[in-house]
Formats: sequence, C-alpha cells, structure tokens
Amino acid sequence: METVVSGIRPTGHLHLGNYFGALQNFIRMQNEHQCFFFIADYHSLTTHPTPKDLKGNVRNVLIEYLAAGLDPEKATLYIQSDVPETAELYLILNMNAYLGELQRVTSFKEKARMQPDNINAGLLTYPTLMAADIILHKATKVPVGKDQEQHLEMTRTFANRFNRLYNVEFFPEPVAYNFGEELVKIPGLDGSPKMSKSDNGNSAIFLADESEIIRKKIMKAVTDAGPTEPNMAVPQNIQNLFSLMKVVSEPETLKFFMDSWNDTSIRYGDMKKQLADDMVNFMKPFREKILEIEAQKEYVDKVIIMGREKARASASKTIKEVRDIIGFNNI
Ligand code: ADP
Ligand code: TRP
Repeated sequence: METVVSGIRPTGHLHLGNYFGALQNFIRMQNEHQCFFFIADYHSLTTHPTPKDLKGNVRNVLIEYLAAGLDPEKATLYIQSDVPETAELYLILNMNAYLGELQRVTSFKEKARMQPDNINAGLLTYPTLMAADIILHKATKVPVGKDQEQHLEMTRTFANRFNRLYNVEFFPEPVAYNFGEELVKIPGLDGSPKMSKSDNGNSAIFLADESEIIRKKIMKAVTDAGPTEPNMAVPQNIQNLFSLMKVVSEPETLKFFMDSWNDTSIRYGDMKKQLADDMVNFMKPFREKILEIEAQKEYVDKVIIMGREKARASASKTIKEVRDIIGFNNI
C-alpha cells in the first residue's frame, strides 16, 4: 500500500475532462492505497476570487467528488485551507526554492502571460505550495494529468533538497501516476484539443449540467460541409466528436459513424443527436447524485469535519518531525 495525494483547484464546476483525467483515477486508487484528496483553495487565491465565489466553488467540488464516487470512509477528503500545516511546510520549502528555477516553470510563464497585471508571489511559488501538499503526507504517488508533470519534478527537487540539507532520509520521492496505460486528454466541443472550463463553458460538459443543456451544447458544436471523398483525413472539430463518442457511446455506434465518414454518407445532425443521447445517459447519474448530495447539508459538513481531522492528524505528525529536524524544538 502506498500513500497517494492529489487535488484540484476549485475554480468552478468539474467537467468531463477533470473526470477522465483526474477523478476517475482517484476513485480507483481509493480502494488500494492510503489516499488524501483535497480541494486546493489556497492555490485559488493566486487569481483573487471573491469569498462568495470561493466558498461556493469549494462546496461544489466537494459535492462533485462525492457524487462521482469518492468515499470519505476510504479516502481522506479535505479542504487544503483546513490544514494550516500545509502553509507552514510551504514557508519552510520556500527558503530553499530559488528564483531562477521558479521563473523557469512553464505554468508560471503561461500564467504570467495570461495575467500580466497580477504576477504575484503566490503564482511564482505555486510549485512549492504544491510540493508541500504532496510531501506533507509523505506521498509516493500523485494522480494528475500530463500538464502537471513538471510540478512533480519540482516536488522531487524540493524533497531531495530538504533531505540533503539536513542529512536525513525523511521525504520520499513522489511520482505522477495514471491508473490506465496512457494519459487521457478529453477534447473540447469548440474544436479545441483539451476540454477546459476557461472558455465560458462553450467547450466543456460539466458533471452538474442538466440534460437539456448537454443536448444544446452538443447540437451547437461546429461541423463543416462533410467529407467530399472517401477516407478523407478527419478535421480536428469532427475528430473531437468521435473522441467524445469513444468515451460515452457503444463501440458499434462509434464504428457506424466512422464508417459513414469513410464512405461519405455521414449526417452530422444524426451523429450529434446520437452523441447527445449517449452523453445524457452517461451524465444523468452524476447530476442526480449531485442534487441528492447537495440537499444533505449536514452530511457534507460532516465529511468536511471528518476529512479535516484525518488530514491534520497526518500533517501534524510530519510537521512535528520537520520541526525537530530543522531545530525548532527549543524546549
Ligand atoms: P481546467 O483545464 O479546466 O482549468 P484544471 O487545470 O483545474 O482544469 O485540471 C484539474 C485536473 O483535471 C488536472 O489533473 C488535469 O490534468 C485534469 N484535466 C483537466 N482538463 C482535462 C482534459 N480535457 N482531459 C484530461 N484531463 C484533464
Ligand atoms: N496544480 C494542480 C492542478 O492545477 C492542483 C494541485 C494543487 C495538485 N496541489 C496539488 C495536484 C497536489 C496534485 C497534488 O490541477
């Protein structure tokens, strides 16, 4: 049994990409390992959300974690800011994190480009906070999408640096992990290669979406005049519809429409209607479960309290040892 840690930033509702890229791995891993899954609300502060939005988003993500099948009896589900030990370890790690290496991180460069008026220190030190999350529980496996690999490399650097500085073998080396063979990337409905919440919800299907909304989003997906000759290369926006079909439809359905692409008889209206039906069937149980759990306020509160206690027990043990190693044990 290994120790597993992962988290998602609460910036809105979870979408199909989050589910297949991250959440599905969490759900599988909870049966075999000691797991800590959290909601990264400290990380959210880099973009200055209002207290109301932050609170709402944290609760939504927690409800969606539960609705998707995370079991608070099996895994520890917690809110990052409920465990201030995270912040202490972050502070300590920052003393051995260097400006040059932090400035070279791809996600920092990207975010600095996207929000040039708000390049704050939290954005720069995002990787040390993420390292703190992970090594706080001495995790060895971290289920994340491919975009997080560089952050995991930094985590190993910081963990090893601490060990070397104090001449201890305290923190293990964590690795990015995917349960399946290959990393999944769910494409967007707007033709983009990665479904993401950041384009006004036009590309994403959210776990909480109503059936009618899902239908509308799929029927609105942009197509073209259709194939003009047999076995033509498939353009990206049409390929995205096939890729979505691959995850929610029966294999025969996908084959039928791919064959009809190849022999040019395809009718996009029929294909989108079929995809919409299959997507609605796939998503319906999520929405139903979300509504059911949303109504159980006391249960959700109980999950938050239980997670906080379990996470703090693990975190305070690590922090106590870290303090001893550093020399903060004065009496
Ligand atoms: P977004 O791109 O919508 O902002 P996040 O960056 O918050 O999503 O991603 C949270 C987790 O979900 C990460 O582990 C990430 O790798 C995964 N993820 C996000 N979008 C996709 C996608 N389209 N396909 C696969 N995994 C994804
Ligand atoms: N950076 C991750 C993302 O954007 C979220 C995250 C924060 C995380 N801390 C983590 C993921 C620790 C895994 C482990 O998706």
